[in-house]
Amino acid sequence: MKMEMTPEDKKTLLDSVPETFLSRDRAFHELSARLADAAREGDRTGQEKLFNQMVAACTECHAKHALDRFPGLAAVE
Ligand code: HEC
Repeated sequence: MKMEMTPEDKKTLLDSVPETFLSRDRAFHELSARLADAAREGDRTGQEKLFNQMVAACTECHAKHALDRFPGLAAVE
């Protein structure tokens, strides 16, 4: 079955997740777009820096919003 979100589904989702989660998600997408740019430009130092920031963003978001899934991160907070 093909899963598609109606505009109503999307609104329900956006209303139910905290703003902090949305801003982390936006920051994360922004970082990944910048990483793609750095890769296209062949900027190796930039790629290394952005990649590290992106991996840190994965852990940070999981520690704040996905402790059920990653209980080990509770100690990191
Ligand atoms: C904006 C928040 C956020 C960011 C950024 C984020 N995640 Fe997650 N991630 C989540 C949440 C919330 C869950 C828990 C979903 C659940 O409970 O099933 C999750 C779950 C996961 C899981 C487990 C999926 C499963 O099937 O149980 C993996 C693997 C994962 N993330 C990898 C990553 C990686 C790798 C990155 C970075 C490249 C990343 N995530 C960035 C929020 C985020």
